[in-house]
Amino acid sequence: MAAAPQRTGGAKSRSRSASARGEAPDRGADAPRRPLRPFLKWAGGKRQLLPALRPHYPARFGTYHEPFLGSGAVFFDLASLGALRPRRVRLTDVNGDLIGCWRQLRDHPDAVIAQLHNLAAERLAAPEEHYYQVRDDWFNPSRARIAAGGSWAERYTTDLAAMLIYLNRTGFNGLFRVNSQGLFNVPRGRYKNPRICDERNLRRTSEALSALEAVVDYAPYEAVLDVARPRDFVYLDPPYAPLSTTASFTSYTPDRFDADAQRRLQEVVIRLARRRCHVVLSNSTAPEIAALYDGNMEAKQAGIRAYKVPARRAINSNAARRGPIQEYVITNVTQAPG
Ligand SMILES: C[S@@+](CC[C@H](N)C(=O)[O-])C[C@H]1O[C@@H](n2cnc3c(N)ncnc32)[C@H](O)[C@@H]1O
Repeated sequence: MAAAPQRTGGAKSRSRSASARGEAPDRGADAPRRPLRPFLKWAGGKRQLLPALRPHYPARFGTYHEPFLGSGAVFFDLASLGALRPRRVRLTDVNGDLIGCWRQLRDHPDAVIAQLHNLAAERLAAPEEHYYQVRDDWFNPSRARIAAGGSWAERYTTDLAAMLIYLNRTGFNGLFRVNSQGLFNVPRGRYKNPRICDERNLRRTSEALSALEAVVDYAPYEAVLDVARPRDFVYLDPPYAPLSTTASFTSYTPDRFDADAQRRLQEVVIRLARRRCHVVLSNSTAPEIAALYDGNMEAKQAGIRAYKVPARRAINSNAARRGPIQEYVITNVTQAPG
């Protein structure tokens, strides 16, 4: 097996232009702007649900908080709509790899992109062997090294960020899953021609995060209560309550998001609504969620309503079962007319 490559990067990497690396330069600011897209696939990612969520975006708000960040589909949507303001964006999650990756892309896009191009080129000769080499010989050992001290997300490196994006784009269904020893153990996906490095979208993501001076932090969602103020917009997208015992997917992190966790989340949602924050929550239509929000007197008195909207079930190993279902959009924001 080859030794882990020395993939170093840092603040200086920003200064290398695209032409210096022999790549096509980004088109100028006048080029037509495509909407920003999440740079990671993420279980429970909300791109499909955006049409049902948009009518509940408040017309005006203070700071935007997304405390179950994942791939940040709603953040990207709001950024593309020009609805966000500098120093008014807080993105958090308790997956340290995820947060480390977002931060490295924000701060060191050139290094992350260069390393991702290398990985994509190395892969061509033997995609399967390369996937497991990256996962088992480079990614997990590097993660073990940073685990030895301090904050995981802050010790993340550009190497790790590039490897995480690579594994995400080529692994099974873009899942992030670790075993009981904390080792990333997702098998390879069967993609003919995966898009590993969408350089333009990665660069624009980095630019948007920097221009917005977005805070991207490792934090449990409850921490939003310490910072959210009246008229802030809080979008919460927790691991969904399972519709059936076999449908459960809650392994983004080692801690399960069980029925108790859903109850505690409801208390946070009610406190935010009483504080006059604009709150939007997505969740499944499991009976426990209906009991917490749909017809629940305390939630109703806080101005919260639960709307059933059509959605597509994305996480199911059986593609035939990824059919249309309903989900809840739970919010105190009145739906915009039309
Ligand atoms: C359904 S996913 C969010 C998907 C995201 N909206 C998107 O579009 O990709 C739920 C996220 O919540 C995170 N999470 C789980 N428990 C958490 C907690 N207690 N506090 C904060 N984040 C948590 C997971 O790591 C995962 O990224």
